[in-house]
Amino acid sequence: MRVAVTGASGTIGLATVNMLVRAGHQVRAFVRTAARLRGRCREERIEVVEGDILDRAAVAAALSGADAVIHCVDFSLREFALSWDALRHALEALRPGGQFVYPGVVWVFGPPEDGRVGPEHPKTSPARLGAVRADLEKAVTAEGGTVVRLPDVYGPGVLRGPLHDMFERALTGKTIRVLGDLDRAVEYLYIEDAARALIAPLGRPQGRGRDYHAPGFAPTTPRQFAALIFTSTGGAPRLRSLSPRWLRLLALTRRDRRAASELGYMYENPILLDGTRTRRELGWMPEVDYADGVRRTVRWLRARTASQGAAYTAASA
Ligand SMILES: NC(=O)c1ccc[n+]([C@@H]2O[C@H](COP(=O)([O-])OP(=O)(O)OC[C@H]3O[C@@H](n4cnc5c(N)ncnc54)[C@H](OP(=O)(O)O)[C@@H]3O)[C@@H](O)[C@H]2O)c1
Repeated sequence: MRVAVTGASGTIGLATVNMLVRAGHQVRAFVRTAARLRGRCREERIEVVEGDILDRAAVAAALSGADAVIHCVDFSLREFALSWDALRHALEALRPGGQFVYPGVVWVFGPPEDGRVGPEHPKTSPARLGAVRADLEKAVTAEGGTVVRLPDVYGPGVLRGPLHDMFERALTGKTIRVLGDLDRAVEYLYIEDAARALIAPLGRPQGRGRDYHAPGFAPTTPRQFAALIFTSTGGAPRLRSLSPRWLRLLALTRRDRRAASELGYMYENPILLDGTRTRRELGWMPEVDYADGVRRTVRWLRARTASQGAAYTAASA
């Protein structure tokens, strides 16, 4: 299939581009700066188109002719409202009958009512950001698109976020800091499993207008995950929990932090995704366990440090 990826220079977009190439698709990467993508991706078999997602005409031109669009643009919390224009432009650019896939987030849900959270669970996030995001995701399925909800991802090519911070701190001999209880149940998803989940709906009509969950390999805890990192790095285990109240304190200083602090409920009420529908309808399951995923991540980060500018290709895993 001819598949266009927006936000192709970002964490999820880049991994998706690599996975699409690996799966034999024809890939067009929509990015603000081609050099930024080329600096992170050595893959030659992709067409790179530069443009701004907020420029409707540029998006229409860049996505024309694609059989499917995987929309991986993301904005900072300060610019979050731009997500609406970005989504509208990408949806409008899709050819009639084309497939649209959008990575979803767990914070559309409120505290879980009972056990694992399936796609039908009420999307009643107490956070304003969560409510807006739920509306964005609903707009996608209403247009016949597919939402694939992911927990936090980690792995080669992931260079931001709380999980990356854990790896980075362990590799530089610093104490890993984790928000919330170190022994609460959490799940993390290896980046290639996330990318496989995002391309799983392609060519499957049953995925249109539906949402799916791509859970992590298994429930773990921040303490157990950190222990795997320390085993891989060989460093002394140094781990500290930060109270979610810390988020509320930060919120006093900036409006965007206030919005983020509303998501603090997730540190006290972990949300674990139920992937039954994804397994049944799309044949997707996570493949990379935590020990293997952590080992690959540490190896990649070390190699990157050794030769700054190392680009991630799917083959490096
Ligand atoms: N990362 C996770 O753990 C995770 C988990 C669940 C769901 N998700 C979802 O996955 C999606 C992608 O997230 P991510 O973590 O990959 O984000 P990211 O790493 O921050 O990447 C964002 C991408 O959007 C691009 N972008 C921003 N503004 C743009 C503009 N005006 N025009 C064109 N491109 C623009 C960025 O381009 P530049 O490189 O030029 O800045 C970058 O490629 C989001 O919807 C996010 O909520 C992520």
